[in-house]
Amino acid sequence: MSSFNLTVNGATEAVDAADDTPLLWVLRDTLALVGTKYGCGIGSCGACTVLVNGIAVKSCSLPLKNVGSAKITTIEGLARDGKLTALQQAWVDLDVAQCGYCQSGQIMCATALLASKSKPTDDDIDGAMSGNFCRCATYTRIRQAIHAAAGSS
Ligand code: FES
Ligand code: FES
Repeated sequence: MSSFNLTVNGATEAVDAADDTPLLWVLRDTLALVGTKYGCGIGSCGACTVLVNGIAVKSCSLPLKNVGSAKITTIEGLARDGKLTALQQAWVDLDVAQCGYCQSGQIMCATALLASKSKPTDDDIDGAMSGNFCRCATYTRIRQAIHAAAGSS
């Protein structure tokens, strides 16, 4: 058991856990940030995607000992003062979600994409989002929402 000071959504959280505990476990079970979902648990589906220093990372595959002082952002940390980001608003406006299970991971991955590329092409989107699966096949609306948020449609 070790002690960690995690920076999550701008706050520092003290957590006691084993070094190899996946970040996802702590987010959901210790910090009650349950917007981040457990899907496969082996880094294959993208449901658990969060931002680590702005990079999209699968939190089921990131052990606490490797988090260090990185800034973690979950879906709960995107909106500011109750105002959705442009990407979140596009998601709502275009009714992207179906069952919703994969969607926080999709939005986090798309957030990282737009931070690195303000006007992504379809190929950029498909490449960046290729590790985030949607059993409901909302891929077309995901792409439309990213374009809408980027003003690139
Ligand atoms: S739960 Fe992490 S990639 Fe599937
Ligand atoms: S909306 Fe159902 S899995 Fe993606």
